[in-house]
Amino acid sequence: MVVKRIAAGADHAGVRLKDELVNHLRAGGHEVIDCGTHGPDRVDYPDYGEAVARKVAAGEVEMGLCVCGTGIGIAMAANKVPGVRAATVHDVTSARLTRAHNDANVICLGERLIGPELAREALETFLDTAFEEGRHAPRVAKINALLPGPKGTPESEGEG
Ligand code: RB5
Repeated sequence: MVVKRIAAGADHAGVRLKDELVNHLRAGGHEVIDCGTHGPDRVDYPDYGEAVARKVAAGEVEMGLCVCGTGIGIAMAANKVPGVRAATVHDVTSARLTRAHNDANVICLGERLIGPELAREALETFLDTAFEEGRHAPRVAKINALLPGPKGTPESEGEG
């Protein structure tokens, strides 16, 4: 196992799984920045997806862990931050392939959809799998080069 620096974040629907995984990661020797939330009070998942994504994009951490009820909304938010490739994952194979093929740097889990044991296994697989490069590299480069907004709009052309 290679020790990593990881940022973790969750909304109220994902906080229990996030806390459990943070403890698990720290027990395994990883360095974790816990971006919250820290209790059951209702919060908005985009705030926590953004907080994790900004740390990944800034290079403060190598990887991000996001949890909400489904792992979907928080991934949508995280993916708005340039340089972030967040993947919603609920099985070990997806966790492996999104690292190997997509060079995903944020794993997103849904506490309402996945048990803690599978979540731990998927997370460990995600952290332990390297990007394969090769034929996948130009595809990931195309993802990274995508501009916000639909093609041909002033926003995407940088004119507005
Ligand atoms: C919160 O109720 C829920 O909508 C949120 O955690 C997440 O599942 C959104 O994608």
